[in-house]
Amino acid sequence: MAIREVLKMGDPRLLAVAEPVLEFGTPELESLLADMRDTMRDLNGAGLAAPQIGVGLRVVIFGFDQNPRYPEADPVPFTVLINPTLTPLGEEQDEGWEGCLSVPGMRGLVPRYRNLRYTGFDALGSPIDRTVKDFHARVVQHEVDHLDGILYPRRIRDLTQFGFNDALFPGETLIDD
Ligand code: NI
Repeated sequence: MAIREVLKMGDPRLLAVAEPVLEFGTPELESLLADMRDTMRDLNGAGLAAPQIGVGLRVVIFGFDQNPRYPEADPVPFTVLINPTLTPLGEEQDEGWEGCLSVPGMRGLVPRYRNLRYTGFDALGSPIDRTVKDFHARVVQHEVDHLDGILYPRRIRDLTQFGFNDALFPGETLIDD
């Protein structure tokens, strides 16, 4: 287990489409997941995708009880999600502030589907099938975007709503990503 370096926007590895995991329950997968957990917790991330630590596999983790970077968000159960498929439920989207460990110190207002069904597999290959909404749905959409080489700034509709944490939210003690 180790805290790994998180790649920053501009690194071409963040733009690649990740490959599906073919084998579950392997020591390699367990070791990747342990590193992802350590790295995410060290940085107070709400989630992390394998490509962010330079591994081009369709693996994301997310979840938190109380995240100091998103103090108003409801808790999201800690989840390992592999080879995910997302299905938006309805057309309704919400705009919400997002940050990313690969875009440190910044926030942007990003539209995401409010209601979402997601499926995939856990570390041992057991199926996951959930219907979620609001911040849980947002986090999953953000993380799965990483698997397709998309960082949240590309989703921002109005670039006046993109900037540095301390300028956007002066006086707020957002823990920097
Ligand atoms: Ni991110």
